[in-house]
Amino acid sequence: MAVLETIVVAFWAMLPAYVPNNAAVLAGGGRPIDGGRTWGDKRVLGDGKTWRGTAAGILAGVLLAGALTLVADDVSAASGIDVPAFTPLAALGLAAGAMLGDITASFLKRRTGRQRGAMFPGLDQLDFVVVSLPLTALLATEWFFEVFTWGVIAVVVVLTPILHVTTNMIAYQLGLKDEPW
Ligand code: CTP
Ligand code: MG
Repeated sequence: MAVLETIVVAFWAMLPAYVPNNAAVLAGGGRPIDGGRTWGDKRVLGDGKTWRGTAAGILAGVLLAGALTLVADDVSAASGIDVPAFTPLAALGLAAGAMLGDITASFLKRRTGRQRGAMFPGLDQLDFVVVSLPLTALLATEWFFEVFTWGVIAVVVVLTPILHVTTNMIAYQLGLKDEPW
């Protein structure tokens, strides 16, 4: 696979995992997942992880995967780059894995004494990759290994932190997010 093709496929394949966090920021609020419970003297997850945000995030990722699947053939024909369609389980693995990764990160932040909104360099940028890729490999094994070649995975690991930093800066500038990370 040529470099450009690998980058386009990586970005396309990861879109259903990229969108959930942004949808959660827009839709978040209401009852926190941990119900306000603490572990030791610290919150289990904190007020930043809500049921509504999580559900909206997963829904947005799955719907986007559906939309991309509808246009995948046309995009492939027009661009000459073979972008993949998503199976329902692949869509679910990517979207739910992204939210699960984000929730796991908050859990780790609270355990290490970080307040809600505190930054955790590295974890903030890659939490959703670390969970969404293995979960997708588990739920949609054949699809995963066909799409996520080593080249694609390498691009994802490099591209994701760059995209994450950029979109969060934009969300911060637009006043959608309280911190630029
Ligand atoms: N959000 C949500 N549910 C999620 C993820 C995010 O409701 N599962 C919403 C919350 O309103 C949250 C905002 O999106 O405040 C920003 O998300 P994030 O940066 O992940 O949360 P933080 O508030 O920074 O909290 P934490 O320190 O736990 O990451
Ligand atoms: Mg945050």
